[in-house]
Amino acid sequence: MQAILQVENLRVYFTTIEGDCKSVDGVSFRVYNKEILGIAGESGCGKSTLIEGILRLVKSPGYIKSGKVLFAGSDLLRLKERNLRKIRWKELSYIPQGCMNALNPVLRIEEQIVDGIVTHTDLSGEKAKEMTSSALNAVGMPSEVAGMYPHELSGGMRQRVAIAMSTCLRPSLVLADEPVTALDVIMQRLNLQTIAELKERFGMTVVLVAHDMACHAEICDRICIMYAGRLMEIGIVDQLFQKPLHPYTKGLLEAVPSLERRRVKSIAGLAPSPLNWPRGCRFHPRCPFQKEVCGKKEPVLREVGSEHYVACHLYGD
Ligand SMILES: Nc1ncnc2c1ncn2[C@@H]1O[C@H](COP(=O)(O)OP(=O)(O)OP(=O)(O)O)[C@@H](O)[C@H]1O
Ligand SMILES: [Mg+2]
Repeated sequence: MQAILQVENLRVYFTTIEGDCKSVDGVSFRVYNKEILGIAGESGCGKSTLIEGILRLVKSPGYIKSGKVLFAGSDLLRLKERNLRKIRWKELSYIPQGCMNALNPVLRIEEQIVDGIVTHTDLSGEKAKEMTSSALNAVGMPSEVAGMYPHELSGGMRQRVAIAMSTCLRPSLVLADEPVTALDVIMQRLNLQTIAELKERFGMTVVLVAHDMACHAEICDRICIMYAGRLMEIGIVDQLFQKPLHPYTKGLLEAVPSLERRRVKSIAGLAPSPLNWPRGCRFHPRCPFQKEVCGKKEPVLREVGSEHYVACHLYGD
């Protein structure tokens, strides 16, 4: 399968007085053309930092330590800022975490979307207004919403506006960081379905960050499981939900409530600090299956089946 984005050994650190905070610490994966790839993991494991690293939007004291991000024939990490700006929004767009609160409260929706279009293209204001209306319709909102202020819309509708904004120029790749959190399940499902529909209609590829595994089950093709700044497992959603291999993935899935499993299990222990990751496998202090090697050697992601990768000594040779 053809990859539209390839991330190689990406490291994004934050400088602190106590030393480097290694939030993303050697992450590699591919995103295939026209898929929805999920990224899951506990709060603080580095999901947002990973997305910001890919887009080169990491703010000081954060910095990109090393790695490559290959997209459309270039390494985004080495592209001139001017050339990167030409790609952002048009080719590669972003829905930031907390997007429902990212709109400007004093501008009508139309002004905000038109501003974005005019800044990123040579289109006239008139044409941008037309595009705004069709972008709103594409996410199931009437054109009248264009004349409203953010406070007149519910949280779910503001998220829809953010989805419309990030997809109105029909980018080939959208990186969506928790685009449907803080909503009731009905609205969450509706907005997820909207993302899936836009993806089908415009042939987009989507990377979907969510800590809620139910979101991934709903629309993703494949999923990456992140823990302590690294990827622990990558697989096709069905395969990963039915036969998770990494003990951390198993723990995450056991923490999801269902009709059969009303009493959920949590993963024992606390997530480690990015200032000082455990030696060996970063999950070993919490792992019920740890062996001697786990505290000594860091496992690498290895292919254990078709499209199935796991970083765990239980599956080594
Ligand atoms: N400006 C900063 N300075 C120092 N450390 C930071 C900074 N921003 C983020 N971090 C650290 O980087 C780590 C990863 O944070 P990140 O926001 O990427 O996690 P996340 O997986 O997106 O979490 P969530 O699910 O809560 O959104 C955290 O340990 C956080 O403390
Ligand atoms: Mg985040």
